Amino acid sequence: MGMLWYVMVLIGAMTFVCCDKGEEPTILDQYGNEADPATLSAGTSTVYGTGVTAYDSPAPWVTGALETRFYQGDALYDNPRVSGDDPLQGGKGPLYAGSSCGSCHANAGRSYPTLYSQGGTGTGGFSSHLIYITKKNGAFFRNYGRVLHDQAITGVEPEGRLSVTYTEKTYQFHDGESYSLLTPTYTITEWYADDIAPEDLIIDVRIPLRHVGMGQMMALDPTELEELARRSNYPEYGISGRLNYVQERGKTYIGISGNKAQHADLTVELGFSSDLGVTNDRYPLEVAEGQSQMIGYSHYGIQISTQDMENVDFYLHALGVPARRDVDDPVVQQGEKAFYRARCDLCHVPTLHTRADAPALLNGTRLPWLASQTIHPYSDFLLHDMGPELDSHYTSGLALGCEWRTTPLWGIGLQKKVNQHTYFLHDGRARNLIEAIMWHGGEGAVSRELFARMSKDDRDALIRFLESL
Ligand code: HEC
Ligand code: HEC
Repeated sequence: MGMLWYVMVLIGAMTFVCCDKGEEPTILDQYGNEADPATLSAGTSTVYGTGVTAYDSPAPWVTGALETRFYQGDALYDNPRVSGDDPLQGGKGPLYAGSSCGSCHANAGRSYPTLYSQGGTGTGGFSSHLIYITKKNGAFFRNYGRVLHDQAITGVEPEGRLSVTYTEKTYQFHDGESYSLLTPTYTITEWYADDIAPEDLIIDVRIPLRHVGMGQMMALDPTELEELARRSNYPEYGISGRLNYVQERGKTYIGISGNKAQHADLTVELGFSSDLGVTNDRYPLEVAEGQSQMIGYSHYGIQISTQDMENVDFYLHALGVPARRDVDDPVVQQGEKAFYRARCDLCHVPTLHTRADAPALLNGTRLPWLASQTIHPYSDFLLHDMGPELDSHYTSGLALGCEWRTTPLWGIGLQKKVNQHTYFLHDGRARNLIEAIMWHGGEGAVSRELFARMSKDDRDALIRFLESL
């Protein structure tokens, strides 16, 4: 960490070489040279680390007092909460899904999913997944709520445990290369209260999302997004995306975060409340409130301050976005062309812009560094019908079970370094990038077929291109 820290500080100090009035600042790369624009994933928030901290480093503008805040937020994000009323780290439970944000988002990425290594909820009850459950008619179960919490503090029962079984089917590309897809079947066992009849149960399992470009995502220009939604209508490819709109505290917002774009913000308050069991100003009641087993549970009141949550919010907004790598490699360039030929770009839109007025944190602090940037998220942040195979039957805001937000691909090539695995898609069923593509159905089917029909050389190049993001 010491060396990296030094390099980051150096980059922080050197990154903006300014500038005659009105001129754009020059952005420097890790060697102090003028950065190749093709590498700049997020303008002045681009960072050059490629190791395990590639997602977890501050943007170069995070200096001085901001840096102190960043590491305060980072610590609150990573340090495990404990049960009881410790003012610094207490409040965990009684029901929870992870002990810290970082337990599921290891290194600001995706923790290794126990779904695959341990067949569901892992040993000690930890899974790193969020398990959404509803009745067939969309209503929540009174004794469980929206999320099945598979962990609980001593003396309280977890709500249940997830298990998964698969069927595996092998397919061949036209040139004989084979790939196989795992179709998961989820069941819930050890319900703490009344058993839920499987006929009336919808289970939607999510692995965590990478925290790449969270600040830029919150700074997106709503006008540009609405324009994208209008433009996203390509009958020749069967594609038509739409925005999710969500109601929060009596107002309507464009939904942006989560796999169904079902949240308007970075879910810091919701994460503390529902994922960790830590009550706060926005969610003052324990998620287990009203459940039969909560009778007699003693309350500790508000368990994390808004100031602390703001620091976590700042940390997420201020994370640097990894620069692209190998942009001059001819194979990567061949793969980039193949990416456009397969029309991946119609949903994984390479270039967007952040709006001119900077986004604000929970308490209103503005972050001017995120404003007016050209960014390369490789997403339209729109919902697309991805076909019956990926249909979870779980609705969220406007999003139907088959609709998913285009996952931003920036940083995807570093997931293996950061989290030591290559599980992809909302529930991690794809074990590598080829499987992720071959799962695309519905609006993604034409694109998938264009990929499948390419020569092996082009398919391999396209994967190399994804790895350069
Ligand atoms: C039990 C595991 C778990 C814990 C603990 C957890 N998360 Fe997550 N997080 C997830 C999963 C799974 C998703 C995807 C959810 C979805 O699609 O609805 C997610 C999504 C997110 C997103 C949306 C990212 C995007 O690209 O849209 C943010 C932001 C986030 N989490 C922040 C947090 C914060 C902050 C905390 C701690 C307060 C936290 N998470 C704790 C599992 C977890
Ligand atoms: C119709 C819109 C659409 C098109 C076209 C499309 N995608 Fe996707 N892509 C999505 C959506 C939506 C998801 C999320 C699906 C899920 O998680 O179940 C996704 C997920 C992915 C993922 C997994 C990301 C992760 O981190 O889990 C990869 C990789 C990917 N797409 C690559 C491609 C490539 C390469 C192409 C072109 C061959 C392509 N996509 C074409 C919409 C699209």
